[in-house]
Amino acid sequence: MIEYRNLRVALLGAGSVGAQVAKLLLEHGDELAARVGASLELTGIAVRDVDGPRTADLPRHLLTTDAQSLILGADIVVELIGGIEPARTHVLQALNSGADVITANKALLATHGPELFDAAEQVGAQLYYEAAVAGAIPIIRPLRDSLAGDRVRRILGIVNGTTNFILDRMDRDGGSFQDALATATELGYAEADPTADIEGYDAAQKAAILASLAFHTTVPLEAVHRQGITAITGAEIESARRAGYVLKLLAICERLADPVTGQEGVSARVYPALVSRDHPLAAVHGANNAVFVEAEAAGSLMFYGAGAGGLETASAVLGDLVSAARRHVVGGPGVAESTHADLPVLPIGSITTRYQITLEVADEPGVLARIASLFSEHEVSVETLVQSVAQAGAPARGGARSTATLVIGTHAATDAALAATVAAVAESDVVDAVTSVLRVEGA
Ligand code: NDP
Ligand code: HSE
Repeated sequence: MIEYRNLRVALLGAGSVGAQVAKLLLEHGDELAARVGASLELTGIAVRDVDGPRTADLPRHLLTTDAQSLILGADIVVELIGGIEPARTHVLQALNSGADVITANKALLATHGPELFDAAEQVGAQLYYEAAVAGAIPIIRPLRDSLAGDRVRRILGIVNGTTNFILDRMDRDGGSFQDALATATELGYAEADPTADIEGYDAAQKAAILASLAFHTTVPLEAVHRQGITAITGAEIESARRAGYVLKLLAICERLADPVTGQEGVSARVYPALVSRDHPLAAVHGANNAVFVEAEAAGSLMFYGAGAGGLETASAVLGDLVSAARRHVVGGPGVAESTHADLPVLPIGSITTRYQITLEVADEPGVLARIASLFSEHEVSVETLVQSVAQAGAPARGGARSTATLVIGTHAATDAALAATVAAVAESDVVDAVTSVLRVEGA
């Protein structure tokens, strides 16, 4: 029998993910020891309530409410508490004591990432976070290691399972956002308070993490443009379908030139966008996640799988644990987080994409020409225009008149130009309402 050196692992949290990490660590101890070249001793599990319900059968003697003592005796600390405090304090304490830290905490990384990476660098410790973005899907390590010699141009991510479930449901079965949200809640995909998911906060945290990593630049959460899916209507989904698109909540990270100065910068943004039904992201159904990466040399890559779930996410945490443990065995300083590029984060007005705008207009001679000239005045080029059935005598701004629905697809334009166009169109006396403005991504 091989005698392995011992590495002490402290686990903070035994909820959905933590309980599964503990279970796998205890059940697969021998196998993990053989892979690492050291045995991973789970020295304790910090929780709030040692008598609380668990999704796995964990040895009672390992549970404790004294996280601090556990951290101080550990080689590796696994933080699965979630939220900002006390997770931040615990992670800093662990790093400052020289322990490597593994976390799945996207909220903490998106808001305090630089502070934590600095603390790790000061003492030569490592901070691993594969599970913080897209659960079980390996995406952090591919961006940090596999693509380290390439230049990432763009990332399009479906990184929130709840919203993908809702939009997919609306697309497949029809019905309203509220109906689909109710189903997501019933099936346990949506939290009792789904705000973080449906308003795009969760996806924005993941976008900040991915953009920082991919572009070697600190991208603060406040710089991520965010729009959720609560205003999406069944009519928009149906109209998207007719035009050959599907609606997805995307986290988009992009390296681009500032349209005014030409200077290189980055953009990180979250919004519901139209994606061609031929694009690989259109085939991501239910609560699954996928991250589509476009790199200069590698071309297009897609990473797909479960973005959440206790056991699935535990797989990513265990992968990080093996990496951290191997470094303890082999030695060496590890790799600091790279922010050398330090590119400016550009505002949403600087991005360039295509758009689909839906208008209710007066069905009268000259209306199309008036609208076309407003687009042209703002340097937005119209690519497609579909007019649908006029409603005779529908009430409108200037009294009863016939109206028509116009769906206008544009060529690529800056967001600033598009916003100015939409504002001018909305003011026009031939337009009764701007009913939808959606960006088209993935072209
Ligand atoms: P849970 O809410 O299920 O579990 C949290 C755990 O932390 C519980 O065991 C709780 O103890 C413990 N805890 C809370 N506060 C304290 C405290 N002050 N001191 C000690 N222990 C504390 O969270 P999840 O397992 O779902 O998530 C953990 C992390 O993983 C989060 O950062 C989350 O964002 C991330 N994540 C989760 C995914 C998922 O599918 N669930 C997917 C990807 C990432 P007690 O049990 O006693 O209440
Ligand atoms: N609430 C998240 C989701 C869990 O719906 O994808 C994973 O971060």
